[in-house]
Amino acid sequence: MVGRGALRGAAPPQGPGPRGALWAHRGVPARAAAESRAMQTPPTDDRALALVLGGTGGIGSALVQALRARGETVLAVGRRTEPAVDLAEPASIERLAAHVAQRLADEGRALRTLIVASGLLHEGAVQPERGWQHLDAQALQRLFAVNAIGPALVMRHLLPLLPRQGRCVAAFLSARVGSIGDNRLGGWYGYRASKAALNQFVHTAAIELARRNKAALCVALHPGTVDTALSAPFAKTGLEVRPPALAAQELLRVIDTLPEGASGGFFDHHGTPVPW
Ligand SMILES: NC(=O)c1ccc[n+]([C@@H]2O[C@H](COP(=O)([O-])OP(=O)(O)OC[C@H]3O[C@@H](n4cnc5c(N)ncnc54)[C@H](OP(=O)(O)O)[C@@H]3O)[C@@H](O)[C@H]2O)c1
Repeated sequence: MVGRGALRGAAPPQGPGPRGALWAHRGVPARAAAESRAMQTPPTDDRALALVLGGTGGIGSALVQALRARGETVLAVGRRTEPAVDLAEPASIERLAAHVAQRLADEGRALRTLIVASGLLHEGAVQPERGWQHLDAQALQRLFAVNAIGPALVMRHLLPLLPRQGRCVAAFLSARVGSIGDNRLGGWYGYRASKAALNQFVHTAAIELARRNKAALCVALHPGTVDTALSAPFAKTGLEVRPPALAAQELLRVIDTLPEGASGGFFDHHGTPVPW
């Protein structure tokens, strides 16, 4: 069944190790590679704030836990938190931005890490399509609203809150199945297309972000196949499904070690570039 097989594309790829692969991205020079090696430890800015949207989900809550465990101040947001964000409700994204701006001002903090760990694969009648006969306008609109348009509005309202100087990272959880170049199985039209749209938003925003702060990164990340509510219905024996805590450690390692030249790219949880 295509619906199940499609998740296979989310399995970790074979390939070079994380840093070697990162350096290969758009010809990142050796000096940047050396700098990235030196950045293995997380930023030590004790006035930093990390914001995790989808911080209530399987991967998102593991990211929040891992960030807090290493002493970072984290604001975790979901649809039932305070503030609450529904990515299909633009006004809630604006309210979040106002809340974050106020908190940064009140506490004298800098938003150094923004992670969008929310996403939708299935929800009620919205299910991955096994063939074109399943394409449905409402389901497609829902997938695009949550996976692409919502994150784009997060870019509009939250990227301007990143500091104008110094390293900061905006990471958007995408999916390998959103890769057009890697699509050999077909199916999952709406999820694939909405993640491909997200990737284009990420790449475009990275270009604009670089004009504000050359040390800022905006990237799309594939977390691998992770044991969460999102993947549960499609888990398959033989597929390497990893616990969220491990995925979070890997993603943070990638976020911590990405060199500046990596901004605008699409990477997996090993730091290996994923084809568009
Ligand atoms: N798990 C995998 O194998 C896998 C593979 C490839 C890519 N990914 C990507 O990784 C990300 C995290 O996935 P996950 O596995 O952690 O999924 P998950 O456990 O189902 O969590 C999904 C998160 O998205 C949030 N969300 C869903 N609809 C939303 C909406 N309308 N507005 C705001 N937030 C919404 C949920 O918030 P609430 O708590 O408020 O419901 C939750 O925090 C997603 O982008 C997913 O596409 C996952």
